[in-house]
This record gives sequence, C-alpha cells and structure tokens, in this order.
Amino acid sequence: MSIASDKLEIIRQQVQYHLDHAEQSRLTPDQEAALKQQITDRLESENAVLIAHYYTAPEIQALAEETGGCVSDSLEMARFGHDHSAETLVVAGVKFMGETAKILNPEKRVLMPTLEATCSLDLGCPVEEFSAFCDAHPDREVVVYANTSAAVKARADWVVTSSIALDVAEHLAEEGKKIIWAPDRHLGDYVRRQSGADILIWDGACIVHEEFKARGIADLKRVYPDAAVLVHPESPASVLELADRVGSTTQIIRAACEMDNRRFIVATDQGIFYKLQQQAPDKEFIIAPTAGEGATCRSCANCPWMAMNELETLAGVFDRSDNEIFVDPELGARATVPLQRMLDFAARLNVTVKGNA
Ligand code: 13P
Ligand code: SF4
Repeated sequence: MSIASDKLEIIRQQVQYHLDHAEQSRLTPDQEAALKQQITDRLESENAVLIAHYYTAPEIQALAEETGGCVSDSLEMARFGHDHSAETLVVAGVKFMGETAKILNPEKRVLMPTLEATCSLDLGCPVEEFSAFCDAHPDREVVVYANTSAAVKARADWVVTSSIALDVAEHLAEEGKKIIWAPDRHLGDYVRRQSGADILIWDGACIVHEEFKARGIADLKRVYPDAAVLVHPESPASVLELADRVGSTTQIIRAACEMDNRRFIVATDQGIFYKLQQQAPDKEFIIAPTAGEGATCRSCANCPWMAMNELETLAGVFDRSDNEIFVDPELGARATVPLQRMLDFAARLNVTVKGNA
C-alpha cells in the first residue's frame, strides 16, 4: 500500500516553505516574563489548565509546570485533562492531541494556540482512503497510532501510542489476529519485527524522525564511544539498529535517568531536551544528526508544527474564535471506543504511559 510517498513530498515542501518564511520570534527577557504573567493570570481567571507536550519550546513546558499544568507524552496529556478539575484545557502540542483531549473530555472546552499545528502522520492518512484500505482487508484488526484524526480513530479497533504499541501487537498476535497498522511505516515495521505479528502497514512517516541518519549517528558514536543511543521508533530501521534503547518520549526520558551512561545521543525532537536536562542534570545530551546528504528537510529534529506553539499565540488563546477544538459527538463516541480499549489495556498491563517523567 503506497499512497503516502507523493503526499509526503508535498508535505516536505510545505514544511520547507514554512521554515523559509517563519519569522524568528526574539523576545527580550522582560517581554517573555510579561507574556508568561499574562498567560498565568488568564489561566486562573478562565479556570483553565495548560497541558504541553515534551516537544514544545522550553518556555512553554516551564510555564505548564509553574502553573500546575502538565508536560508529558500525548496519552498522558489526555489523561491529565480528564482528571483535572479545570473547565478549559489549553493544549500546547499538535492538533491530534487537542482532538484526543476533546474525545476523552467532551464536556470540557479545549483550546489550542493554533489549529494549524498538525502532523505529517495525520496528514498522510486521510480517512476516506484509510477506510477503503480497511474495507479491503476485513479480516484484520485495525490498529492506529494516536497521531491520527478523530475520524481515523473512529474507524479503528485500537488506538495506540508508542509507549504501548508493541504490547498491543504482541497481545493481538497471541490471539492469532492479523493487523492493519497505520499510519507510521517505521513504527509499524519495528513492531512487526519485534512482535512477529502479521501486520499490513500503511505508508506514512514522521518528517522529523525520518530525517535521522544512521551514518551521522555512527560517526558521532566514534567521537563519543561511551554515549548510549536513544531512539524514538518513528525513526528508520537503520537508525533503530544503532539504538541502545528504542522508546517513546516518556521511555527515552526514563532510560536516560536509569542508564549508567553519562552521555547520550538522542534521536527524537529536541524539545525533549528540556525534560532530559531537568531529570538528569548531570548527564550530557547530544542531538542525533539529521539532514544528511540529499536530505530535503532542514528540520534539525525540530517539529515545525510543534514550533507553532509560541508564548505570543498562547497569550491570545482565550481571545480568538478560530482555535477551539470541536469533535462531532457521534464521531467522538466512536473514537472513544478504541481509545478506551488502549487505556483499559494499559491499566491491566500496568504499563506506564505516564508523562512528567
Ligand atoms: P508521544 O506519544 O511519545 O508523546 O509522541 C508523539 C509524537 O508526536 C512523536 O513524534
Ligand atoms: Fe507528527 Fe513527527 Fe511532529 Fe510528532 S514530531 S507531531 S510525529 S510530525
């Protein structure tokens, strides 16, 4: 199945355009402090809580912590919002995260700094084509990654995050079930190799993780032979082969704290360095090289959509009319089923998918 390669090329060009035209925001310390105070006051007066992903800018993660919010992976962002008493959830991340929060908390208002912050995995898996693909393989259990639209989730039997993807595949394989996996081909390939499950994989990719280069990491390893390599499973197989640990954002942070190494080469979005340095202040973290010869993306391990979450856009989050997440209630109810299946499975397994490492 290959619909996504052309689309990914278009997405890459769009991202390149964004990078070429993005205005560099340069706030003075006074301006930053004033914006942070303004946001803090509004969060309080609006009975709102700020929920940020590990890939957002350090100042946004710090603000979420300082205001009693949460910094975590995508699943815990939704869980935290569910358990918190705030009426409004302000989600700093990408759109599927806001949608997941809304699906699990339909009674709450969910706002985002911008709804333009999307994800190449979500873009590369349009619901009509995906549904047709599923319809063509009715004997397979449909497992989709959290990085998808509410409509794609509503078509699935299971939603998974990278923290629990392998466990779910192993569970289904034990039950003798065949799987459709979407949208990330690298994660799907990794899970297939690790679990031995019969998996048919949709052809999507993360434009950030796909740019990590095995050769660059191997070169860096020669310079720092003592460094452990931590890799997110959205990366290509050649990069995964060099990993000392493969894991989700939360699992990468945990590995950095637990492992004896003093130095780490990290193949995931560099927003995670805020948490890594906070949790393991005496260790050194080096970003894995991207954009090798012939690469089209200059992301330098920095998701362009996550980067749309800025203090300025956050400060205006309550005053605009174009940034609230709405999910059709009927669609939301259908999408809740595979999401809840994952949450129940995680609870049974006692798998920690929790953030705030
Ligand atoms: P997590 O689910 O680990 O937070 O990852 C989300 C993501 O977008 C990875 O690129
Ligand atoms: Fe999507 Fe990749 Fe950005 Fe994560 S890092 S939000 S998978 S584009």
